[in-house]
Amino acid sequence: MSFSKRRRVSEKVSLILGNVASTKAELQAVRNPIPQDPVQWAERIRILKGSPFTFQDREYLLPLYRDNSHRVIIVKSRQMEMTEWIVNWILHKLVTHPFTTAIYTAPRMDQVSRFSHDRFRKALLDSPELRDFISKAREAELGETAIGRIPFSNGSICYLISAWGDFGALRNIPADFAAIDEMQDVQQEAIPVIEETLSHSSFGTMIMVGTASDEGSEFSRVWQQSDMKEWDAESGAWIPQRPQNRFYSGYHIDQRMAPWIKSLPPTHPNSIEAKRIRYRSERRFLNEVLGLFYRGLAKPLLSEDLLACRDFQFALMDHLDPPYVSYAGIDWGGGQHAFTVIWIMAKDDKDRWRLIYVRKFDERDPMKQVQIIGNLIEQFNVKQAVADIGYGAVQVSELQKRFASRVIGCQYIRRPELPLERKTVDESGKRVAQMLVNADRSFWIETAIELIKHKDPTGALNPLLVIPWAEPLDIEWIIEQFTCIEMEEQETVSGKRYHHYTHSEGEPDDALHGFIYALIADAYGRMAPPLVVQDLFGD
Ligand SMILES: Nc1ncnc2c1ncn2[C@@H]1O[C@H](COP(=O)(O)OP(=O)(O)OP(=O)(O)O)[C@@H](O)[C@H]1O
Ligand SMILES: [Mg+2]
Repeated sequence: MSFSKRRRVSEKVSLILGNVASTKAELQAVRNPIPQDPVQWAERIRILKGSPFTFQDREYLLPLYRDNSHRVIIVKSRQMEMTEWIVNWILHKLVTHPFTTAIYTAPRMDQVSRFSHDRFRKALLDSPELRDFISKAREAELGETAIGRIPFSNGSICYLISAWGDFGALRNIPADFAAIDEMQDVQQEAIPVIEETLSHSSFGTMIMVGTASDEGSEFSRVWQQSDMKEWDAESGAWIPQRPQNRFYSGYHIDQRMAPWIKSLPPTHPNSIEAKRIRYRSERRFLNEVLGLFYRGLAKPLLSEDLLACRDFQFALMDHLDPPYVSYAGIDWGGGQHAFTVIWIMAKDDKDRWRLIYVRKFDERDPMKQVQIIGNLIEQFNVKQAVADIGYGAVQVSELQKRFASRVIGCQYIRRPELPLERKTVDESGKRVAQMLVNADRSFWIETAIELIKHKDPTGALNPLLVIPWAEPLDIEWIIEQFTCIEMEEQETVSGKRYHHYTHSEGEPDDALHGFIYALIADAYGRMAPPLVVQDLFGD
């Protein structure tokens, strides 16, 4: 056979083979088509932890997966497999509708980044039928840009964005599908922006998932506008509590429905009964276990209040040179959940407190912490530092050996009539060797709250705290450390009203106290007359 003839034959053979292959794939597709039904789709396509995805014992999930209302809202307790639903929902939509766009958002950048890597991408790579959908093109890493982007080989795209980040970037992206996770913490202004991105789409579908939070919050308001379905295990159906509300299809999902929890004996640590005892905070038990909104102690600071303080242009600094000076607050971590936090801030030209450095210590050795803090005091030209002595009397003495009265210890007390006082003698009248102040805890918490919620004379919001947000991953953790506080009104012996602030165990507020101690540092510097060191060690 001549060369050219041989080539012609081989071309023909490969053509036939190619045809056979594609016919085979077509036949296969006809015999076993990719299901359109989201439930069958997930069972057939998704692999979770090495096994095919299953709805076994989760009858309540089926109507939810099949709900194709334009707006779906889920109010849930913790760990109800709802982020997984979002993964399935987005993938199913994008894969079955080529050339469509989805948006995923959650409040913090670290949540979005975890979703992207541990959930979404993993779901794509673990499934033999989805693997080919992920485009070879390297998508922009989250963090490099405000928006992460995952292109699919069928022309669909998924965008991932942090709601607490620079959300304006989303305005230019027309989308067909949107999923909001951890909705209870998403700020109100983000929702209309997402609604707008969906406005030109013929799909225009949005799902919202959140853990129950406070009665009266934006999340609870949206829930109230839904048909508020509850699961009736007996009839195996979702029953709307407000059937007249048609705009939002709502589901309440809690741990009492979870097959892996409801079968546990009360003695099991994961049983509802055990959690009722273990969760010392009523709020957390209702929210996280029963998925119920909580009506109780007021939350004086909401995430919106803190988000109003963001400055997207600035990042944290690594030093501050004279003539500028800064003030530092140090809250020593004690117990299981608290960490030592140092907060350093400086006044800007608009008389606002600009946070320039904040750090949560992974280092647990108190003396090493003292060493690091000492270096920071120098690096940032700290004029005055105030540190809590509740957990840190020894650390404060160590710092005072190096810095004398540049570092002052602070003890919170309850004395509203004298919110800040220099302490020179102890309870028995003896002079104290440490330089200390007593501060009324509630007064200073309220001072901090007022600075954050400050309004200018026209009534416009004008926060006097500026939080650098150019690198959200470094800073976003502080928000929860401010918003976790609750206020309880009490009466003093003399019949006066007194605001008492608490926070539940497991929700540390160390950053807030770092800010407060730094405020006290500034106030202390302005107290007259200046403290003379010899006084303390005399007689
Ligand atoms: N159908 C399923 N079968 C088995 N495990 C599942 C299933 N769906 C989800 N999971 C697993 O259950 C765990 C909790 O799921 P997921 O994170 O989706 O819940 P969540 O409601 O979003 O929880 P959180 O309150 O933490 O946000 C995860 O480890 C997830 O992989
Ligand atoms: Mg989740």
